[in-house]
Amino acid sequence: MLADVLLALSALVLMFVTIGLELYFIYAIVISKNCKYPPAFPSFGNMKRLSLAEARKVLAESGTPLRVVDLGCGTGTMLLPLAREFPEHFFAGYDWDRFVTAIIRFRSRKMKNVEIIRDDFMKADIASYDLLLCFLDTKAAEDLSAEMKEKLKPGAVVISNAFELKGMVPEKILDAKSYGMPLKVYVYKNK
Ligand SMILES: C[S@@+](CC[C@H](N)C(=O)[O-])C[C@H]1O[C@@H](n2cnc3c(N)ncnc32)[C@H](O)[C@@H]1O
Repeated sequence: MLADVLLALSALVLMFVTIGLELYFIYAIVISKNCKYPPAFPSFGNMKRLSLAEARKVLAESGTPLRVVDLGCGTGTMLLPLAREFPEHFFAGYDWDRFVTAIIRFRSRKMKNVEIIRDDFMKADIASYDLLLCFLDTKAAEDLSAEMKEKLKPGAVVISNAFELKGMVPEKILDAKSYGMPLKVYVYKNK
């Protein structure tokens, strides 16, 4: 009897979780303009490790406070470890997904050097940042590189996970093969 009740309860919980996830996927498709832009998927493996190492170098070597932005910050996989390690620098995260922004806002609630903006990153003031992080997809990388070519401030560094920014010449391309996937990290410096 008890086993039947527990089984029925587990099935009910599973059903609600599944419905919740399906609703979230529909929401994600709608806000990403029918998958024109990438969904919430965190950086991982060597790609994450190498791009964080590149960002750390820039932050550690700077004698003055820098402004960092993650364009599509997700739940903070890239932004928050850096913000924690470098309290002297300022970190902004743009994301238009209300669920992931709720999570990253909660995770960063005690961090005074972090600001999360729930909006389209195409509206970000690119020229105001010294270090820009992104993990996009082909279309978003194309749109954003057009913006960056025009607006990046001199000396600004861009670290792009997996996707090349078209029309910009990388200073470095790091081999970031992860779990058998031939990924790369592209590092740009605006002269
Ligand atoms: C692939 S995830 C990367 C997350 C994080 N930067 C990382 O590396 O772990 C891309 C994120 O960008 C967000 N995104 C995609 N297009 C966007 C846009 N135009 N404006 C704001 N956020 C966007 C998605 O909601 C998603 O959370």
